[in-house]
Amino acid sequence: MAILVTGGAGYIGSHTVVELQNAGYDVVVVDNLSNSSEKSLERVEKITGKPVTFYKADILDRDALNAIFDKEKIDSCIHFAGLKAVGESVQKPWEYYENNISGTLTLVDVMRKHGVKNIIFSSSATVYGDPAVIPITEECPKGQCTNPYGWTKSMLEQILADMQKADKEWNVILLRYFNPIGAHKSGTMGENPNGIPNNLMPYITQVAVGKLKELGVFGNDYDTPDGTGVRDYIHVVDLAVGHVKALKKIEENVGLGIYNLGTGVGYSVLDIVKNFEEATGVKIPYVIKERRAGDIAACYSDASKAKRELGWEAQNGIKEMCADSWRWQSNNPNGYED
Ligand code: NAD
Ligand code: UFG
Repeated sequence: MAILVTGGAGYIGSHTVVELQNAGYDVVVVDNLSNSSEKSLERVEKITGKPVTFYKADILDRDALNAIFDKEKIDSCIHFAGLKAVGESVQKPWEYYENNISGTLTLVDVMRKHGVKNIIFSSSATVYGDPAVIPITEECPKGQCTNPYGWTKSMLEQILADMQKADKEWNVILLRYFNPIGAHKSGTMGENPNGIPNNLMPYITQVAVGKLKELGVFGNDYDTPDGTGVRDYIHVVDLAVGHVKALKKIEENVGLGIYNLGTGVGYSVLDIVKNFEEATGVKIPYVIKERRAGDIAACYSDASKAKRELGWEAQNGIKEMCADSWRWQSNNPNGYED
């Protein structure tokens, strides 16, 4: 039996395929390569020494999905495929709702028609909105999202939970990621954003490699220790391992499971700059800019439920996250184009 990984050529998906193969699972990847390169899967194969079965297909394409489920023996699905750029989602809400929501509805319909009722879904800390309590536990109420991307995550959580409630044969695990950074230790796989990065770490590494002049720090007047935004950064390989643990939980017939995947530690933007400089010896020039619309002051997890119930805990600290991000970027200044 195989695990279907949608979006498996992407940043988190490709790292998860490595950990799944290392744990002995057969993997089938479906990705339309709208935000990724097939080269990531070649790198996966180099690391694990095992072939990856890959279908270039869109999760909105019911016929393509039916053909894949007819051919492969799929047991469970880890569902990463989706559009994820917050700013773009404000400009193109229809495209985000169509891709993320219709895509997931099509996927789960094909799954159930083939008797496959185990799914792990990539959700996000963004569903908490501006969190009522920090550190954030899974019991913290979901909040108002500030953009269509966030709403797709919040709505898909609801849809999947409702399906599980109505049909107890479903096992649904919602994983709420905090801020994934870092890269595989080999330096051959990592984040490969299109154009100018929106997220902090890829922006920093592109400044470090000389592609961008300086970092803009979005606001230093938040109610945080140094005034800059605080987030819970988590190493992408730790996140990937979290999916393997979640799969074990699915095998115990969990029903519905909701887990934060974070470290439980918050770092400010300036903490990240300092740690990056210390880990790599590269100076990051920065200027303070206006706050970015939609940002919140602080967001970090209480990660104890995943530890208790999944036996999962992040292993990498901030220095390793910075060093690994830098190894990937400096070895591959143009990402998978090198
Ligand atoms: P990514 O863009 O690198 O990976 C997503 C993959 O899905 C890409 O390879 C893309 O080509 C593919 N895809 C998109 N739409 C598709 C479709 N209709 N059919 C088939 N393939 C499609 O992003 P990532 O950072 O690896 O994120 C993976 C998942 O985790 C996403 O659902 C994202 O929303 C979620 N997430 C990411 C973060 C983060 O900060 N990176 C945080 C929280 C949640
Ligand atoms: N920041 C800067 N300058 C930059 C980029 C970011 O100062 O050039 C700051 C932001 O203001 C924020 C922090 O760095 O305080 C982190 O910003 P990111 O854009 O890296 O990440 P976010 O916390 O805004 O959002 C990310 C993903 C979302 C996801 C969320 C929670 O982009 O998709 O984490 O998982 F929902």
